[in-house]
Amino acid sequence: MVVVTGLRRYGKTSLMLTYLNETGKRYVYVDCKFLPPAVSLKSFMSLLEAGLSNVDWGRRLLGKVSLAEVSLGGFGLKFKNKEEENLLRTIKALEGSVLVVDEAQALRNSAYRFDSLLAYIFDNLDIKLMISGSEVGLLYRFLRIDDPSAPLYGRAFSEIRIKPLPRDMAREFLAEGFKQEKISVDERVLDEAVENLDGVIGWLTYFGYSYVTGEADAKRIYEGASKLAVEELKRALTLYGEGEPRYREALKIVATLRSASWSEIKRGIGARLGEVTDSKLSNILKNLKDSGFIVKDENGYSISDPVLARGILSYL
Ligand SMILES: Nc1ncnc2c1ncn2[C@@H]1O[C@H](COP(=O)(O)OP(=O)(O)O)[C@@H](O)[C@H]1O
Ligand SMILES: [Mg+2]
Repeated sequence: MVVVTGLRRYGKTSLMLTYLNETGKRYVYVDCKFLPPAVSLKSFMSLLEAGLSNVDWGRRLLGKVSLAEVSLGGFGLKFKNKEEENLLRTIKALEGSVLVVDEAQALRNSAYRFDSLLAYIFDNLDIKLMISGSEVGLLYRFLRIDDPSAPLYGRAFSEIRIKPLPRDMAREFLAEGFKQEKISVDERVLDEAVENLDGVIGWLTYFGYSYVTGEADAKRIYEGASKLAVEELKRALTLYGEGEPRYREALKIVATLRSASWSEIKRGIGARLGEVTDSKLSNILKNLKDSGFIVKDENGYSISDPVLARGILSYL
């Protein structure tokens, strides 16, 4: 099992798919970000089927599965229902290939134990698992590899942790892209872009693409990116229902102060929304951290992505 981690737009999906395509591995790709908030077996199955129907061998395989030619003999499992049997039959037919589960943390919101399913595949089938997620803390909360009571406990895996490009490489990446497009840009534009976007490869690509396709006003590009980032954030925050205003407030305080201490956040929320208990605040900050929106270091809490920070100040 390989676990590929890194924040949004660090290039996880591109890295996995490039690797699989270049090495010619047979794989099926499932992107859990397309699943509904509460994941059912059925919705996962549809996604898997969609992934398979993208490729020739997958379509053939689906045909075989529907004819029940794939034997589950020796599978050693009791099925709870027809749906689970179907899913396992399809998965069994994937032997010899790589199963890529992208944004896998979404599978934690389910009555079905997808972690058990992964453990089952790991232990019993000739299938390589490639698991990825942008919400790294939540991903590990789902996998619980260190928890002795969890199905995946103690399984061997390697983690590939993707980081943003260092500043000089980010600058080179942009410069090279503009060169390929035969567009000359001012040095200042490059410096400013790296300043604003950090080394996040997805934002650098967004910037280059927007610029090359006719948006010469860099400010507008940064604003567009910020809006995008905030839209994603808002979608993620709906998860917290009635608690959401506190999450928003915490993020605004952190973005405003750039680096905020626990007590500054507590006071800030208290002033606007009423007292928040330590345990509630601790929960809020843990969830924001595990979703990759904030990071904590010795100076306090800060927003993980400068584009998002800008967006929070303007649009949240
Ligand atoms: N190595 C790379 N070279 C060029 N562009 C890249 C590279 N990696 C990622 N990108 C670009 O960045 C964008 C975000 O990458 P993606 O793989 O979707 O990130 P993630 O899956 O981590 O959210 C992609 O749309 C792609 O265009
Ligand atoms: Mg991705």
